[in-house]
Amino acid sequence: MTDAVGAASFPDGFVWGAATAAYQIEGAAAEDGRGPSVWDTFSHTPGKVRGGDTGDVACDSYHRYREDIGLLTSLGLSSYRFSLSWARIQPGGRGAANQRGLDYYRALLDELAARGIEATATLYHWDLPQELQDEGGWAVRDTAERFAAYTALAAEALGDRVARWITLNEPQVVANNGYRTGEHAPGLRDRQAAAAATHHLLLGHGLATRVLRDLGATDVGITLDVHPVRVLGEPTPALEQARLITDAGATGLFLEPVVSGRYPVHAAEDLLPPPALVADGDLKIISAPVDFLGVNYYSPIFLRAGDPSDLRRNENYARCQVPGVVEYEPEELERTSMGWLVDPSGLHQILTEVSQRAPGLPLFVTENGCAAEDYVNPDGEVDDAERVNYLHSHLEAAARAIKDGANLAGYFVWSLLDNFEWAWGYQKRFGIVFVDFGTQRRIPKASARFYSDVVRANPLPLLPGS
Ligand code: FCB
Repeated sequence: MTDAVGAASFPDGFVWGAATAAYQIEGAAAEDGRGPSVWDTFSHTPGKVRGGDTGDVACDSYHRYREDIGLLTSLGLSSYRFSLSWARIQPGGRGAANQRGLDYYRALLDELAARGIEATATLYHWDLPQELQDEGGWAVRDTAERFAAYTALAAEALGDRVARWITLNEPQVVANNGYRTGEHAPGLRDRQAAAAATHHLLLGHGLATRVLRDLGATDVGITLDVHPVRVLGEPTPALEQARLITDAGATGLFLEPVVSGRYPVHAAEDLLPPPALVADGDLKIISAPVDFLGVNYYSPIFLRAGDPSDLRRNENYARCQVPGVVEYEPEELERTSMGWLVDPSGLHQILTEVSQRAPGLPLFVTENGCAAEDYVNPDGEVDDAERVNYLHSHLEAAARAIKDGANLAGYFVWSLLDNFEWAWGYQKRFGIVFVDFGTQRRIPKASARFYSDVVRANPLPLLPGS
């Protein structure tokens, strides 16, 4: 857990934060001129979200942002990662800005500034204005242009208060879950639309980066979900081929265009945008230099030798489709209440790998955390021991990655608050602060106290009993 000379520690100036996203916490879905987004439509469609939950009210952070920023202060955090709702700022996705939407974010940014907390603002965390979806959404090129125009409105009005801009959150999940599998808004199951969305999301990132630069932004990046691929057993040529294909589809598809200006050679063909969609100069726009990369890490992908037509316990058909290779979920690893495998060494692996693939680029963990079956005990407290362990082991892995050369500049826990967990609704709790959705009461969990101790004490405190 710790090395021989002491506890794991983080460099001076390391950014400590917590993350949220607009649709997951704000509520106030129809207030102050906000227009509908794809997530309003999706969550109001029966059968799409567990229990019929919607983000109509969520954590009501639209009205309670001062209290929520107060939580950040009491935890001693230096940065808040939140997202701007496009549909609040530019309700139909085009045209003039909605002043009341900008006013809300202005007030939030003023509150952060007054408390000395830097703003890390994500421009797009999945809530596309519905009117743009009606015209094809990310499957059409114009949406990338619209995103750049919205970015200009946001940056002109708010840029003086934003320390760090993140263009997109997890575009891979948008293309895959939103357009290919249909588990997320807009709920399409269309491979071609997904491949087109992949390119247009990336183009949107590149165009928005250019706009931000023109407006003087000096800290601009993108957040990608990253998936370390871990090979079990004796290495073989088939496993190596499977590793390359799996990595290209899960991580490289978005990482390589941004850092190297090309789509990964090993990616499965149906994931790649057809050449006709990729105009001359697009990849140059997409790979315009960024100042940092945000990485979101939850779980790795394991591969091992196996028979896809005769799957064993915990084996799954491998997405790479290499004969003789299966995906596998090691029995001995714990799982979170999402069913996701807990593997801190995957964080160490992916931070060192991404640092090698993007030499010199600072990295931020912009999300990491876990869902657990949290409840308020008779003493009125939430003792989320699983989350304390999860955070401890992942922070230890992050510190070890820094020692091994990873260029990690900060860490944002997902999430500050329990919130609307997309297709899972309010059933899955990721917060370090418990939210009683009946009363909107916030109760910091044991993990909030643990995280606050880490942030204040650095080095990482030992866990009880370790
Ligand atoms: C990520 C999302 C974030 C949250 C976590 C659990 O994929 O970016 O909004 O839902 O997963």
